[in-house]
Amino acid sequence: MLAQCQKMRYNKDMQLDFSTRMNGLNGNATREIFKLLTRPEIVSFAGGLPSNECLPIEEIAEISNTLLKSKHATRILQYGTTEGFVDLKEALLTHVKGVGITNQTLDNCLVISGGQQGLYLALSSFIDKGDVVLVENPTYLAVLPMIQGFEGKAVGVNATENGLDLADLEEKIIKHKPKMLYVVPTFSNPTGKTYSVENRKKIAELSAKYNVIVIEDDPYSALRFEGNALVSIKSFDTIGNIIYISSFSKTLAPGLRVGVAIGDAHIIRKMVILKQSADLHTSNLSQAIVLECLKQNLIAKSVKKSMPIYLQRKNAMVAAIQAYMPKSFKFTNPEGGLFIWGEFEKGVDTVALFKEAIDKNVAYIQGQVFFAENVHKQVDALAYKNTIRLNYSTETPSSITSGIQNLSKIFS
Ligand SMILES: Cc1ncc(COP(=O)(O)O)c(C=O)c1O
Repeated sequence: MLAQCQKMRYNKDMQLDFSTRMNGLNGNATREIFKLLTRPEIVSFAGGLPSNECLPIEEIAEISNTLLKSKHATRILQYGTTEGFVDLKEALLTHVKGVGITNQTLDNCLVISGGQQGLYLALSSFIDKGDVVLVENPTYLAVLPMIQGFEGKAVGVNATENGLDLADLEEKIIKHKPKMLYVVPTFSNPTGKTYSVENRKKIAELSAKYNVIVIEDDPYSALRFEGNALVSIKSFDTIGNIIYISSFSKTLAPGLRVGVAIGDAHIIRKMVILKQSADLHTSNLSQAIVLECLKQNLIAKSVKKSMPIYLQRKNAMVAAIQAYMPKSFKFTNPEGGLFIWGEFEKGVDTVALFKEAIDKNVAYIQGQVFFAENVHKQVDALAYKNTIRLNYSTETPSSITSGIQNLSKIFS
């Protein structure tokens, strides 16, 4: 019987009747790139990870050890509630005051398994087949297949130096009647850009005027190495239409998979119901570690230690671009986060030249994958092939310099 089952499982002729939702979902377009990155000789500007040197390994090891030897051990190793530990939620409500989010109660707060889960739960709570989600053009790559998976449609909104192009936003709200707007307003992935406070306020006003739910995705604002901190879009929320999502992946460790969603209590309730089906609750051990790190102010301390490293790497990349890349190459110079966004002259094709870059042992992400209108297009028809995302957090300054020098040989 067992042998028969195994035979059936491996029968190549078997037709797998997948859901229609899976149509056109091919996984992350950059997965082939990540396979290449295991080669040690590659200088990778393709990632989006915190630097290994910045992970507070010793501190987390000590905290885990203490927690598991304490009276909290059974609470940690047992099942927990879907909403998350109450004491962690209380600490998170204090934590988000740092971005101007005040007057929230425990019912406005959900512990999530990373920001990615927050996006999934928020979109899943609202998006039906055919619903439009406005996104900045370009936007976080992984949100595009998610919207597609819910059979929604992502529509790109133009951006300026200071944030979303508000005229384009309003025009697209009127034209498409979107249910949601998704933005990464601080040190965006992929551009590294930050919306001005005025732009944030206007986004809150426009979204309230037209009753659009906003997902404000904020994994990076704490990674500021220059300039002054800004308040969130959520801090201007007057009607409860803004869902703020953040995580400890970039400030502590992504492997912990802990984040937070703050929103109207009715929205959070729907997200809790969906989370029950998804994973019951976020890992109790991870929650307890994050709580302890917050209590000991370890997150702020760890970020403070890493920011000079990130700044040095960003400066090395900017200096190398200025020294070696063609003068026509336009690029962002962020005050924090992990990414520089670049634009070559029209006609330069970062998709076609990728193989040459790999032959020269440098990897990057081709910018076209971050644009909503490219989701259903064949490679030949893709727009924005002259754009590129460069990550500087994981390579040393000297590797960054030699990597950019090698890239310049391909793009000059
Ligand atoms: C803009 C943005 N949102 C969400 C995420 C998901 O992060 P996590 O689930 O680790 O919090 C990332 C990860 O890189 C990101 O760049």
